[in-house]
Amino acid sequence: MDDFRREVMECRRCDLCQTRKNVVFGMGDPHADILLIGEGPGAQEDEQGLPFVGRSGKLLDQFLDCFDLARGKNVYIANIVKCRPPENRDPTPYEQEQCIGWLYRQIELIDPKVIVCLGRIAAQVMIRDNFRVSVEHGVFYEKDGRLIMGTFHPAAILRNPNHKPLAFDDFAKLRDKLEELSQKETER
Ligand code: URA
Repeated sequence: MDDFRREVMECRRCDLCQTRKNVVFGMGDPHADILLIGEGPGAQEDEQGLPFVGRSGKLLDQFLDCFDLARGKNVYIANIVKCRPPENRDPTPYEQEQCIGWLYRQIELIDPKVIVCLGRIAAQVMIRDNFRVSVEHGVFYEKDGRLIMGTFHPAAILRNPNHKPLAFDDFAKLRDKLEELSQKETER
């Protein structure tokens, strides 16, 4: 992962490289079973070079903690784009296209059992372009031999706390799915 990280840190594939302070490569357990994918870095992430370190990151850490998970403990966290879109706008399709290859390589290296997309942008890129989080959250799909699920973005939960129990249930489903997978492995 180290050589690859060095390559990504020098990326100039789109104009976000001109306004970023730091490339937010991703962080966590490089052999994690769970890969969480957000949308893109915000101001604090750009400042620190780490994903989900602002308010929504604190909420994400709380969710993980409820299920005895943590970044670095069977979890890796990355984003669809690795540089901050100015003013926290959505990353453009061009920026997503330029960046997504890095994430695909990260997925190959980490080889997670389950991918969880946090929010609409990640789910529409990774699952299906008409994915609706409010309707399809918590459902596991199989894609390229991996399980993948979409749930609410922590920032959306902060804006609308009614989503909190729904997202909590999705993380409970994630825990159950991992248990089921490891049970199957021990039976083999
Ligand atoms: N929101 C995201 O989607 N990703 C981050 O890293 C931080 C906030």
